[in-house]
Amino acid sequence: MVKICCIGAGYVGGPTMAVIALKCPSIEVAVVDISVSRITAWNSDQLPIYEPGLDDIVKSCRGKNLFFSTDVEKHVAEADIIFVSVNTPTKTRGLGAGKAADLTYWESAARMIADVSKSDKIVVEKSTVPVKTAEAIEKILTHNSKGINYQILSNPEFLAEGTAIDDLFAPDRVLIGGRETAEGQKAIKTLKDVYAHWVPEERIICTNLWSAELSKLAANAFLAQRISSVNAMSALCEATGADVAEVSHAVGKDTRIGPKFLNASVGFGGSCFQKDILNLIYICECNGLPEVANYWKQVIKVNDYQKSRFVHRIVSSMFNTVSGKKIAILGFAFKKDTGDTRETPAIDVCNGLTGDMARLSIYDPQVTEDQIKRDLAMKKFDWDHPAHLQPLSPSSVKQVTVVCDAYEAAKGAHGLCILTEWDEFKKLDYKRIYDNMMKPAFVFDGRNVVKADELREIGFIVYSIGKPLDPWLKDMPAIA
Ligand code: NAD
Ligand code: UGA
Repeated sequence: MVKICCIGAGYVGGPTMAVIALKCPSIEVAVVDISVSRITAWNSDQLPIYEPGLDDIVKSCRGKNLFFSTDVEKHVAEADIIFVSVNTPTKTRGLGAGKAADLTYWESAARMIADVSKSDKIVVEKSTVPVKTAEAIEKILTHNSKGINYQILSNPEFLAEGTAIDDLFAPDRVLIGGRETAEGQKAIKTLKDVYAHWVPEERIICTNLWSAELSKLAANAFLAQRISSVNAMSALCEATGADVAEVSHAVGKDTRIGPKFLNASVGFGGSCFQKDILNLIYICECNGLPEVANYWKQVIKVNDYQKSRFVHRIVSSMFNTVSGKKIAILGFAFKKDTGDTRETPAIDVCNGLTGDMARLSIYDPQVTEDQIKRDLAMKKFDWDHPAHLQPLSPSSVKQVTVVCDAYEAAKGAHGLCILTEWDEFKKLDYKRIYDNMMKPAFVFDGRNVVKADELREIGFIVYSIGKPLDPWLKDMPAIA
């Protein structure tokens, strides 16, 4: 029986391995992690991550050919194929601080593999890593090899949270990069055979190592660039009276452009877009390509601009001050159908508002109070470390309360901001909300989920990203 071990039981390692176990009953899959609480949760009824469809898969395979364990060394030693799906945070100090990937967790995993292995291994990069990381990993493994043969493959993951199971069941492509030697090609074939259990062969792309590593960074950069492009347009739409949804629709009808990823928003979030682009920028700079680096920097700058533009719209609409005013925040996760808050635009918006002394009442159907308070008190980039190694919040944010429904959040509020596109926010009784708010009552829709006309009928002043402006906002500056 082929044995697979995955180091890192996170958003990628957990779902990916669960799907491999489901689709390949003849393969034994062990998912290991240094975080005891994560592994305990994977072995319980309350999985550590919320992902539609995941519970059923885990329940059907766990204890049969899918195991979650903290006995990292045992499972690594026994495995034929080792996936490494550990954190790759942005460095916060030293060379490349604020841009380069911190490979501490990767390096310690590689050293541990070298220490405990007694048989040949295929080591698969599942984490997103800088191009040429495989070379460094190869060096660590071969310098400590004791005669063991290691083949390194790059097999980046393209799943998106909230749709991870669908993405894994029917991926647009599976990418496998390896050495162009006979052993490298044999290793590629072994991994390809795993995916071939359910992925059509023409969707499995095999390349050299560096193309696979770089393609992952490139794919995320291209996706994020589309969002920054449409968000840049949204600012121009507000200034001219165009409607960004109509512009996106018209532009996306061109088959060369396509309709996906053209939704204007308060800004993109998530654990990877910003991190991967910063990483790409750093690699460009290190390779003497400042013009290319500057091109990609702009994607992040526009995203930051979009978040601060949103805060500015709120403050300027509310007579230039939100000091002491209650603002309801609906949605904190970085997108719907996930409880993940990593790099969520809600953090910057909330910090912008509390910076102006607003009182916030936050509701998200999947994010806990503890998580929200940690996020609002955490320093930039600290979130991307294993949970038990993250610095604890020095003090909770005083002006923030977290409540368990939207009506409670909005009660007595001056304004209401929608920051995640949860379906339930489309169906709220906005008349009831209006009746219980201070007047004038404002809605700031950062995801364009509400029907602005209907809300205006009720009496709200409504701001929707990239839409023709409410008369109330017309003469107010878009940004300072
Ligand atoms: P995560 O933080 O959810 O999971 C990483 C896990 O690795 C943590 O549970 C941590 O405790 C564990 N870990 C760290 N060092 C370890 C070690 N030495 N030994 C054992 N366990 C260790 O992160 P994630 O979202 O799953 O992302 C993992 C990688 O995949 C990152 O490089 C990320 O950029 C990439 N990625 C993420 C997504 C996504 O949607 N989240 C998608 C594609 C790629
Ligand atoms: C993204 C990519 O889509 C995945 O292919 C990739 O594997 C993953 O990053 C990763 O490497 O981590 P994810 O971050 O989970 O996946 O979610 P997306 O659906 O890409 O959304 C990212 C952010 O962009 C969210 O905040 C979302 O609300 C925002 N977004 C997305 C928009 O503002 N507009 C859009 O049109 C689409």
